[in-house]
Amino acid sequence: MLNQLLSPPLPLLLLLITFFSLHSPTLCAQPPAATPAPSPPPPPPPGPPNITAILDKAGHFTTLIRLLKRTQMDDRIYKQLNHSDSLTIFAPTDDAFSNLKAINLNSFTDLQKIQLIQFHVVPSAIPLSEFEMVSNPLSTEAGDNTGSQFPLNVTTSENQVNVTTGIVNTTVSGTVYADNQLVVYQVDQVLLPLHFFPAASPAPSPASKAEKAVPTGPKISGANAMGEMIHHGRDAVVFVVSVFIAVFCLCV
Ligand SMILES: *[C@@H]1O[C@H](CO)[C@@H](O)[C@H](O)[C@H]1NC(C)=O
Ligand SMILES: *[C@@H]1O[C@H](CO)[C@@H](O)[C@H](O)[C@H]1NC(C)=O
Ligand SMILES: *[C@@H]1O[C@H](CO)[C@@H](O)[C@H](O)[C@H]1NC(C)=O
Ligand SMILES: *[C@@H]1O[C@H](CO)[C@@H](O)[C@H](O)[C@H]1NC(C)=O
Ligand SMILES: *[C@@H]1O[C@H](CO)[C@@H](O)[C@H](O)[C@H]1NC(C)=O
Repeated sequence: MLNQLLSPPLPLLLLLITFFSLHSPTLCAQPPAATPAPSPPPPPPPGPPNITAILDKAGHFTTLIRLLKRTQMDDRIYKQLNHSDSLTIFAPTDDAFSNLKAINLNSFTDLQKIQLIQFHVVPSAIPLSEFEMVSNPLSTEAGDNTGSQFPLNVTTSENQVNVTTGIVNTTVSGTVYADNQLVVYQVDQVLLPLHFFPAASPAPSPASKAEKAVPTGPKISGANAMGEMIHHGRDAVVFVVSVFIAVFCLCV
């Protein structure tokens, strides 16, 4: 070993010594820089499940995805999941939306669109096998189980889970996604809330109903804020476009 180390001819040793003495700072500096390298930023921790990506992958939920984006409920759901909330989402298929026929989604106000989505979201993750243990009506993000505005009832038999809103009866027709935090079920009808159909609702006068329906709790006022944001966003766009046109006219 030692012999081998000492064996190189003297000129070469001298050369090496000279080289080291001249370059030692660089040599010392280089290896640490090269080995752990300018380490790339660590990959972001795996985030919460992404509802639009899940629905996108399943392939027949394009209307629901559009509605989630339009109402910004996609962001809201993402944030809830990011805060470790658990959710069950009933996802109506594209066919379910096209079967609405008489009911035009575009005739819904922004608030109603938000409430419609919220009505499909239950603030806990319910595995299929646990539906028989839930008590009716379920709480949804549109309203808790104390009100009669947004009842959502499930009944089960064997492997079948029926869902009724007082307006719509349907059956859970598949599981799109399930983990401990998020469960997404396919339903073949849009779950229309009783609240949207005052004639069918057993509640008192329409006026008191409308009053009660809007603010109940932080979730719905959040929805209002969202609705307003949509309005303000639109106003801002109109304003910017107007200014742009005005400036353009002045210049020409
Ligand atoms: C969720 O997935 C969609 C694609 O389906 C993507 O456009 C969106 O940015 C994702 N959202 C987040 C928060 O990662
Ligand atoms: C998700 O939560 C983490 C902290 O747990 C936070 O840093 C991050 O900004 C959150 N992302 C969103 C989109 O809210
Ligand atoms: C569920 O609905 C179907 C009809 O769609 C009906 O035959 C069945 O009895 C219902 N089951 C329960 C438990 O309500
Ligand atoms: C839901 O279940 C509750 C409790 O059983 C009942 O009072 C209510 O009438 C049901 N509503 C619908 C729409 O089935
Ligand atoms: C839903 O089912 C109930 C009985 O379970 C029935 O009384 C009601 O008429 C049904 N509604 C619709 C819209 O089919």
